[in-house]
Amino acid sequence: MSNSESVAPKNKVAVVTGAGRAIGLGAAICKFLARDGADIAMWDWNVDEAGPIVEELKAMGRKVVLCQVDVSSRKSIEAAAATTRSELGPINILVNNAGISPEEDFVDISDEELDKVIDINLKGVFYCTQAIIDDMIEAKWGRVVNISSSSAQTGAKRMVHYAATKGGVIAFTKALAQEMAPLGITVNNVPPSTVYTDGLKSVEDRFPNGLQGYVDQTIPVKRMGQPEDIANAVAFLASEASGYITGHTLSVNGGRFMG
Ligand SMILES: NC(=O)c1ccc[n+]([C@@H]2O[C@H](COP(=O)([O-])OP(=O)(O)OC[C@H]3O[C@@H](n4cnc5c(N)ncnc54)[C@H](O)[C@@H]3O)[C@@H](O)[C@H]2O)c1
Repeated sequence: MSNSESVAPKNKVAVVTGAGRAIGLGAAICKFLARDGADIAMWDWNVDEAGPIVEELKAMGRKVVLCQVDVSSRKSIEAAAATTRSELGPINILVNNAGISPEEDFVDISDEELDKVIDINLKGVFYCTQAIIDDMIEAKWGRVVNISSSSAQTGAKRMVHYAATKGGVIAFTKALAQEMAPLGITVNNVPPSTVYTDGLKSVEDRFPNGLQGYVDQTIPVKRMGQPEDIANAVAFLASEASGYITGHTLSVNGGRFMG
């Protein structure tokens, strides 16, 4: 079989990790995938804020499961994958979005901090994809979309550990894309730049001239990204229409990094 012969399953089932925050990339991605007809499994370790998002997706006519998952734990992922399959069926779209964005001077990064960011941002992508890819191999169709970061493309001071994990996600994307391409599965990544989410709001004090000052200096289109900007790109990479694109880094960053 060649990739061009692979046919999308009738029932689209998408897992989106890190989908539990009200104003987050994950929630916006869920809404765009639901709009395109997928049933949705929202995986997050914090499920306290997720209720309204679940209701919104259900109101769109989609089936939804919410799973409390730690993406750095294989055991937790296996349990969530089993729940998702039994409630929604085999999984054919995976968006690896969960992540943490720590900041620290390079010389002060402790082993614990380093392990934590690698475990969640890099091993989490590895573990979730390994737990799900067999469904896609079986269906001879699948879409994996990883959320990386422009920090991996430009570098980012005081975020060496974070940038290294996100660079790893880009390399993971390309390597897995090569292995999966003949099996009807594409693997791509989207590196956001400055997107106004709860996550970004919580680190606003890192920007000495404020977020708008940072945007004015670094982003040619002169506005902050919105979660929908990222979700739109992810929905395209998860769609049937993108079947000839794999191993790609689709930068959605207002022109911050052009490469
Ligand atoms: N917002 C931006 O400007 C920006 C820029 C570059 C990259 N990113 C990346 O985009 C992704 C989403 O970012 P966001 O701004 O929506 O962040 P966010 O902090 O709002 O959302 C991240 C989500 O991941 C979840 N999460 C964290 N650790 C987890 C774990 N171990 N298991 C399960 N869930 C876990 C959190 O609970 C949260 O819901 C992240 O990978 C982030 O690194 C964001």
